[in-house]
Amino acid sequence: MGHKHHGKSSANFLDANEILSQLNLKGNETFMDAGCGDGYISKKAIEEFLPDGKVYAIDVYPDSIKNLKEYVAENEIRNLIAIQGDLTHEITAIDEESVDVILMLNVFHGFKASGEMDKVIEVLKKLCKVGGMIAIMDFKPIDTPRGPPIEIRCSHIELENLFRKHGFRKYFLNVDIGESIPEGKSHFLIIFEKE
Ligand SMILES: C[S@@+](CC[C@H](N)C(=O)[O-])C[C@H]1O[C@@H](n2cnc3c(N)ncnc32)[C@H](O)[C@@H]1O
Repeated sequence: MGHKHHGKSSANFLDANEILSQLNLKGNETFMDAGCGDGYISKKAIEEFLPDGKVYAIDVYPDSIKNLKEYVAENEIRNLIAIQGDLTHEITAIDEESVDVILMLNVFHGFKASGEMDKVIEVLKKLCKVGGMIAIMDFKPIDTPRGPPIEIRCSHIELENLFRKHGFRKYFLNVDIGESIPEGKSHFLIIFEKE
């Protein structure tokens, strides 16, 4: 559907520390960076937030995963596992109900564009533990200096209704995060708990 943005990174406008510190990680969780792009969130997560945890970095774009695998090997990083995978299809490389926290940063709008939101939620739900979390951070559906067309952006309310249908409850919402724009901040972060 032409809105994949393979490998495009948010690194130059969204701060990994700001995002990861919202997730209240204890340090031993299994974390998944779903649609990881260049993996800047995964790298920061394993290096500073998850000393005893594990990170799965997943992207459909082969070059992103190849580069991330090289980075992991060169830096001898333990427990950062880069996997090429399509989030609209079962990810067999990861055990069912084994992930504590899944983050999709600037990824979910692509599935609104392709009409695959329900499919992706079901794929991720399978991997998420009961009591585990799915965090979505994306552009607010307002005019912002960068970001996808407004028609394919979701509001946090739309996401809440969608995730409720799939057996998740809203756990946390921050509507003021991301880049500074005249209206405040560019993004929202919403976290759902699998019931
Ligand atoms: C805008 S980029 C964001 C990358 C990263 N999360 C960040 O914020 O820097 C969207 C990413 O989602 C990936 N993506 C799109 N569709 C996907 C799918 N079906 N399965 C896995 N990854 C996908 C793209 O390849 C791209 O790297």
